[in-house]
Amino acid sequence: MNEIMKVIKSRRSVRKFSDEQIKQEALDVLLEAGMYAPSAAGKQARHFTVVQTQQVLDEIALEAKKIYRSSNSAFLQDLGSNEAFHPFFHAPTVIIISGEINSIAPNSDCAVAAQNIMLAAESLQIGSCWISAAAIITQTEEGKKIIKNLGLPEGYAPFNSIALGYKETERPNAPPRREGMVTYLP
Ligand SMILES: Cc1cc2nc3c(=O)[nH]c(=O)nc-3n(C[C@H](O)[C@H](O)[C@H](O)COP(=O)(O)O)c2cc1C
Repeated sequence: MNEIMKVIKSRRSVRKFSDEQIKQEALDVLLEAGMYAPSAAGKQARHFTVVQTQQVLDEIALEAKKIYRSSNSAFLQDLGSNEAFHPFFHAPTVIIISGEINSIAPNSDCAVAAQNIMLAAESLQIGSCWISAAAIITQTEEGKKIIKNLGLPEGYAPFNSIALGYKETERPNAPPRREGMVTYLP
C-alpha cells in the first residue's frame, strides 16, 4: 500500500491524549498541511487559531455543552449533561479553523483543511479528532462573545476545530466500510 493510503486508513479519531504538548516543529507541519488544502476559487479564505490555553477551551466547552443540553438530540443532551465530558477531551492543542462567512464555500474550505491537518497529524503519530464545539457556539450571543476574543479577521467565523495531542490510547481498527457506496455509470 502506498504511504498516503496507509495514513488515510490508519487515521482514527483519538479522544484520549497525554499531557505532553506537541512539538512546535510538528505543529508547523500541521498548519502548513492545512494551508495547502484546496479552496474554492483558490481564495484561501481560511484562518487557523492555535489554542493551547485550557481556559479558552473550557469557555468554549461550557457554552457548547449548554447548547447540547437544549438540542433535540438525546445523544447531545446526554453529552451536555455529562459532568465528565469535555468536548475537546483535554487535548493539549486545538486548532480552530475559521472561514470567511461570505466566501464561496467556507464550510468546505475549512473541512478540507481539517482533513489535511488530521492526515498530517497521523503521519507524525499525533492523535487528532474533529470537534464541532467551536463552530456550534456561533449559534448563541454568549458564544459569539467568546469567539470575538479569538481575534479572528473581520467576517470570519469558526467552521470546525481539531483536537491534537500524543495518543494515550490504542488505535481501534476502522469498522468495515458500508456496501453500495459506489455507482459506476455505464
Ligand atoms: C463533520 C464532523 C463533525 C464531527 N464532530 C465531532 C465532535 O464534535 N466530537 C467528536 O468527538 N468527534 C466528532 N467527529 C468525529 C467523528 O465522530 C468520527 O470521524 C467518526 O466517528 C468516525 O470515526 P474515525 O474518525 O475514527 O474514522 C466529527 C466528524 C465530522 C466529519
